[in-house]
Amino acid sequence: MTIRPPAPSASIVNATDASGKLHAPSAARNATDLCAALQTIAPTTGNALEIASGTGQHIVTFAAAMTGVQWQPSEVEASRLNSITAYVSDSGLSNISEPFLLNATRSGWSKDQPAKNLITLANLLHLISALEVETLLDEAAKTLAPKGTLALYGPFKRDGVLTSEGDMNFDASLRAHDPETGYKDDTWIIRTVQKSDLVMTKTIAMPANNLLMVFQKQ
Ligand SMILES: C[S@@+](CC[C@H](N)C(=O)[O-])C[C@H]1O[C@@H](n2cnc3c(N)ncnc32)[C@H](O)[C@@H]1O
Repeated sequence: MTIRPPAPSASIVNATDASGKLHAPSAARNATDLCAALQTIAPTTGNALEIASGTGQHIVTFAAAMTGVQWQPSEVEASRLNSITAYVSDSGLSNISEPFLLNATRSGWSKDQPAKNLITLANLLHLISALEVETLLDEAAKTLAPKGTLALYGPFKRDGVLTSEGDMNFDASLRAHDPETGYKDDTWIIRTVQKSDLVMTKTIAMPANNLLMVFQKQ
C-alpha cells in the first residue's frame, strides 16, 4: 500500500517535545473554530471517528468540548500515533479511544469498522487524488450509522473556481508537487457523496476561506 508523500507546503509539523507530542501550527490555529463549528452539527452522544488525526491536537479539543461522544482517532502514518497517544494521555480525557492505523483511501476499510454516528476529516482531500477521494468518501459513508453525520473540513474550489489568491498559490504548489492532487470542487464532493447515499445538510464558511461541509446518511 503506498501513501502519497505530501507537498512540503501542506504538512508543516514541528519536532516532538519530550512527551512525544508533535505540533502543527495550522492545527493549533484552526482547532477552536473547527471545534465550535462541529459542536453545532455533532450528536450529543454516540461514537465518532476522526480520519487522518495528524498530530492529535484536534481530537483532544473536540473530545474536551463534546464529552458525551466517544472519539476514535486514526492515522495512516505510524509515527504520528505516538503523538496522538501523548496528547490523549496529557488531556486526561476518558472519552478518546486508542488511535489505530487507518489508510482511509484503501478500498474495504469500512468492513472492519463498527458503525459511527459522526466521522470527521480535516485537511486531507486536497492532498490526494480524485479517485482516492471517491474511495475514502464511499468507505466513510459505509461506516456511518443510519442518520450519521460526515463532516469534511478544508480548502475547496467553489463551483469549480479557486476563490482567493492564497488558494490559487496553494493549489498550484500541490499540483506542481503531484499533479493528481489539489483542491477538490465543492459541487463535485456533493455529487460524489450522493452516490453513497449521503445528502448535504449544511456548508459552514470557516476562517482562511475554508469550508466545513456536512452530510447525513439516509
Ligand atoms: C495536512 S495533515 C492534516 C492533519 C489533521 N487532520 C489536521 O487538520 O491538522 C494530513 C494528514 O493526513 C494523513 N494522511 C495522508 N494520507 C492518508 C490516508 N490515505 N489515510 C489516512 N490519513 C492520511 C497524513 O499522515 C497527515 O497526518
